[in-house]
Amino acid sequence: MNETARGVDRNLTNYADAGFSRYLRRAFLASAGYDGGDLERPVIGVIDTSSDYNTCHRDMPQLVESVKRGVLEAGGLPMVFPTISLGEILLSPTAMLYRNLMAMETEEMIRAQPMDAVVLLGGCDKTLPAQLMASASVEVPAIHLVAGSMLTGDWRGERLGACTDCRRYWAQHRAGDLDEQAIVGVRQSLCPTSGTCMVMGTASTMACLAEALGMMLPGAASPAAVTGARLRMGVATGRQAVALAVEGRTARDILTRAAFENALKVLAALSGSTNAVVHLLAIAGRAGVELSLDDFDAFAKQVPLLVDCKPAGVGYMEDFDKAGGVPVLLKALEGVLDLDVVGVDGKTLGQQLQTVEPPADWQTTIRTLDAPLGPASSLVVLKGSLAPDGAVLKKASSSPHLHKHRGPAVVFDGPDDAARVDDPALAITPEHVLVMRYAGPVAMGMPEAGSMPLPKYLAEQGVKDMVRISDGRMSGTAYGTVVLHVAPEAAVGGVLALVRDGDMIELDVEAGRVDLLVEEEELARRRAELVLPVLPKRGWRRLYGERVMQANYGADLDFMRDDG
Ligand code: FES
Repeated sequence: MNETARGVDRNLTNYADAGFSRYLRRAFLASAGYDGGDLERPVIGVIDTSSDYNTCHRDMPQLVESVKRGVLEAGGLPMVFPTISLGEILLSPTAMLYRNLMAMETEEMIRAQPMDAVVLLGGCDKTLPAQLMASASVEVPAIHLVAGSMLTGDWRGERLGACTDCRRYWAQHRAGDLDEQAIVGVRQSLCPTSGTCMVMGTASTMACLAEALGMMLPGAASPAAVTGARLRMGVATGRQAVALAVEGRTARDILTRAAFENALKVLAALSGSTNAVVHLLAIAGRAGVELSLDDFDAFAKQVPLLVDCKPAGVGYMEDFDKAGGVPVLLKALEGVLDLDVVGVDGKTLGQQLQTVEPPADWQTTIRTLDAPLGPASSLVVLKGSLAPDGAVLKKASSSPHLHKHRGPAVVFDGPDDAARVDDPALAITPEHVLVMRYAGPVAMGMPEAGSMPLPKYLAEQGVKDMVRISDGRMSGTAYGTVVLHVAPEAAVGGVLALVRDGDMIELDVEAGRVDLLVEEEELARRRAELVLPVLPKRGWRRLYGERVMQANYGADLDFMRDDG
C-alpha cells in the first residue's frame, strides 16, 4: 500500500501501472455516479451486517443510513459494503465456529479496499467480537456501533425477554409446569422488537465492553434498536469516523493494556457473559496486549456487582440505558479506573466523565462501589487437574450450595449425546456431575452446550441446578453452576477426555479448583488407549481445527495473533 495515498487512491489494484489503476478506478466509480468532488473526500467504509439470517440486525439498514448521513455531514464519502453476518440462532453448529472467519474476512476487506476510516456495524453475539478482532488488526482507523438491544415483552402481565427468560420458561416446560399452549405464548413474547438480546448476555456485555474499551462513542452501547437515540448515535458515529480519518488514530492506539484493565473491571461490575472472556482474550491477542485468564480473576476480585440486569439481576438493557448506561457505570467505577485512556472521540476517560450527569433514579439499576448489588468475584477462574490451563465459572449466576461439591461423573461425548440425559437407566442424582466434552474449539467451535439440561425426571422433582463441566461455552443469558472453557479440551487430549462415568470430581469455587480424583497411573493407562477425533477433511472446518488455539488464548487462529 502507498502510505501517502488517501481516499480512493489507497490500496490500488495492481496492474503494474499506478496511473492506469487510478484512472480505471475513477472510470468505474463514475459509473456509480461519483464525480471528482466526491472522490476528494475522505472515504469512510461502512460495514453492513444486515442479513435475513440475522434477525437481531433487522433494523440495520436504517442505522446504516444514519451513519451515512453523519459521514456526509462531516464531509466524508460513505462506502457501504457487506461482510459475513453471524445470526446466533440460525447457525450450526454454533456462530462461534465462524467468529474467526468473520474477523478474517472483515480484516481483509478493510485492508484490500480503499478507505480512510471504517465504521463497523455489528451487534448479534459473535459479530461485534469478530469486528473488534478485525479493527485491532488493521492500520485503518475504526469506530464501532451496534444494532442495539430489543425492548422487553410481556406475557400474562410478566415482563420478559431473550434469553434468560427463554431458558427459565423452557426449564419449567421440561419440568411439566408449563403446558404446550403456554410455552407457545411465551415464545411469541420473548423477542418483541428488532435488536439484540436485551439481558446482560454476550451481545449486551460485548457492546458495553466495546464502549468501555473506547472503541464506540460514549453512550453508544445501550440505546434500544428501535429508538431515535440509536439512530442519533449512528449519525454521531458517522461524523466521528470522518474525524478519525483525518486524525489517523487507529484501534491500536486505543486498545492499550490500560483500556483492557478498565474493560475487565466493567465486566466484573456487569457480571457479564462468560463469553466475554474468550472474546477479550482474542481481541487482546490481535492488539498485541498481554492478557491472561489470571487477569480476569484478579480484576473480578477487585470489583463487586453493580449492574442489576438478568441473568445476575432482574433488569434489562432498557433499564440500564434509562439509568445512564456505560457512562454512568464508568462514573460509578471512576475511583478504580485508569482515567488517562483515550477513546475514539479523542478525549481521555477523565475528560469524558467530567460531563456525565447521572439521571435522578440511576441507582435503581446501577449501584455504587460503596453499596454494591452483589459481592466481587462474579466470575472466577478455576484451575486443577481437570483444567490445567484454566476454566471459568460465573459465580454470580450459580448456586452457592454447589460451590463446594464432590460427586460422580456422568460423561456425554458432545452435544448430540446429551439426549441420553433423560434416560432413567443412567440413574442420575442431583449429586452427579454432568460432563459435556468434545465441545471445545477444535472439536466443534465451542458451542453453547456447556449448560446442558438437567435430567427431566430430576427437573420434575424440583431440582434446579447441578454441577456441569464442559470444554464448550454457555450462553451469556444462561445460569447454573457450570464450569466452562476447560482447557485443554478433550479433542486435543486434555484430561477431560480421560474422565469415565463414576469418577469422582471435586469443585471448590473458593479455592479456585476443579479436580478429577483419579490416580495418575490410571490416567496414564487411559491415555494410552485414547483415540482422538479426526478433523474434517476440507474447508474452513479443517483450517479452523488445525490452527485454532485453546479457550485460554481466546480460541483465535494462531497465525492471526499479533505475535503470529
Ligand atoms: Fe442475536 Fe442474542 S441472538 S444477540
